[in-house]
Amino acid sequence: MLRTLKNNFAFLRQFRQRFETTGAIAPSSRFLAKAMTRFLATRGDGPVRVLEIGPGTGPVTEKIVPLLRTGDRFDLVELNESFVEILNERFQANGDWSSVRDFTEVHQLPVQEFQSDEKYDFVISGLPLNNFPADLVEAISNHYFEVLKPTGMLSYFEYMYVRPIRKVVTRGDENTRITRIDDIMAAHCAKHRVARDNILINIPPAWVQHLSGSPGQGDGVDA
Ligand SMILES: C[S@@+](CC[C@H](N)C(=O)[O-])C[C@H]1O[C@@H](n2cnc3c(N)ncnc32)[C@H](O)[C@@H]1O
Repeated sequence: MLRTLKNNFAFLRQFRQRFETTGAIAPSSRFLAKAMTRFLATRGDGPVRVLEIGPGTGPVTEKIVPLLRTGDRFDLVELNESFVEILNERFQANGDWSSVRDFTEVHQLPVQEFQSDEKYDFVISGLPLNNFPADLVEAISNHYFEVLKPTGMLSYFEYMYVRPIRKVVTRGDENTRITRIDDIMAAHCAKHRVARDNILINIPPAWVQHLSGSPGQGDGVDA
């Protein structure tokens, strides 16, 4: 309880200082976090490689950790050094989290610069893509598929109706930016999406998109 309050306060402070990259006023709810890990929860017996992108203070990490086993690999990529500090403290101190420490690493860098020798079975991303320049969204979303195995699953969330609303209420460069982001993400969804969850109990309500690592598996729907 005390940790949750402390983390919420730390998150709010980062939201005020770095709105563009933090992208939310509060950490994700446990309902959103659970939806982000629903494919990982159905993993088979063999070892898996998991990449979490933009973990923040760790609400989604909290749901990932109990699903991990010895022999797995867990990498987290977080840009903000304050969040990296909180995450490292949690891996040092907390019971559940410390049990996965031996095969876990928190990397502090922008994900677009993150490289790994091996691809991942699960890529779980909390990045606020709607806040970024369209070129960066294109680079990051393509990078998701570069680091994901063809048999793997990408799960990411986005706040409901942000792009449709912004497309209507904005003009000029902002309208061009948000329209391009919408086109980029719609194309990925049309090719790769296997499921979408609606999460109403979150601030704000969100969609969780689940995309397969192989094209041609998608539902063909672009929103
Ligand atoms: C909307 S918050 C989500 C935090 C957490 N996953 C949650 O659900 O509450 C976005 C997170 O992505 C991080 N972030 C933003 N841009 C990033 C980038 N290019 N590479 C890695 N992390 C980034 C931010 O620092 C922040 O922690």
